[in-house]
Amino acid sequence: MINLSYNICDYRKQILEILNDNDTVIELGCHVGNTSRLILENDVKLIALDNSPEAESQIIKINSPNLIFINKDVRLHETLLEVYKIIQRCDVLAIDLGGGYHPDTVFKVFYIWSSTFKPKHTIIRNRGLIEFYNSVCEVSGDYKSDRGYLDSYNDSGIPPQIREFDLWTPMPRKNK
Ligand SMILES: C[S@@+](CC[C@H](N)C(=O)[O-])C[C@H]1O[C@@H](n2cnc3c(N)ncnc32)[C@H](O)[C@@H]1O
Repeated sequence: MINLSYNICDYRKQILEILNDNDTVIELGCHVGNTSRLILENDVKLIALDNSPEAESQIIKINSPNLIFINKDVRLHETLLEVYKIIQRCDVLAIDLGGGYHPDTVFKVFYIWSSTFKPKHTIIRNRGLIEFYNSVCEVSGDYKSDRGYLDSYNDSGIPPQIREFDLWTPMPRKNK
């Protein structure tokens, strides 16, 4: 199951509704841990990631043996590998890199992480992806997944590189 939201309360509600005891959760973009705290009220293991300095200083205040925090960029292959060494599967993948964050990046992060960890559920907070979903008026083809990842991935293994920065195209400027 894949859920989308923009409102932070809806995002948290969607996560908490699908959590089960003993679940393993990967949270990408945990910031200072406001959603992490709610997740950890359940009997689950949480691997939370965020690359901001304020995330690290705040999240260490959550004193839980069920939390692993990694202060790294989730677009990077080395970060994915670090988590893969800890766990190879997760039950829930939650992604919030900022609700208005570039949907192309968020989709790529979703695609790579979900294909690797094969979650039962993925919850994504992103406005652009919702706009895209709501704006599609005709679909040809019945490709659909009931899981938290796309079946079209074909299990080709961990991709060698997430080349996010190399593929980025800046806005053209008139005076350049
Ligand atoms: C809106 S905040 C997340 C809020 C959090 N989900 C919550 O419920 O309180 C977005 C977070 O995504 C993090 N972020 C954005 N891009 C990232 C990246 N490439 N790698 C790791 N963290 C990232 C930011 O540092 C920021 O803390």
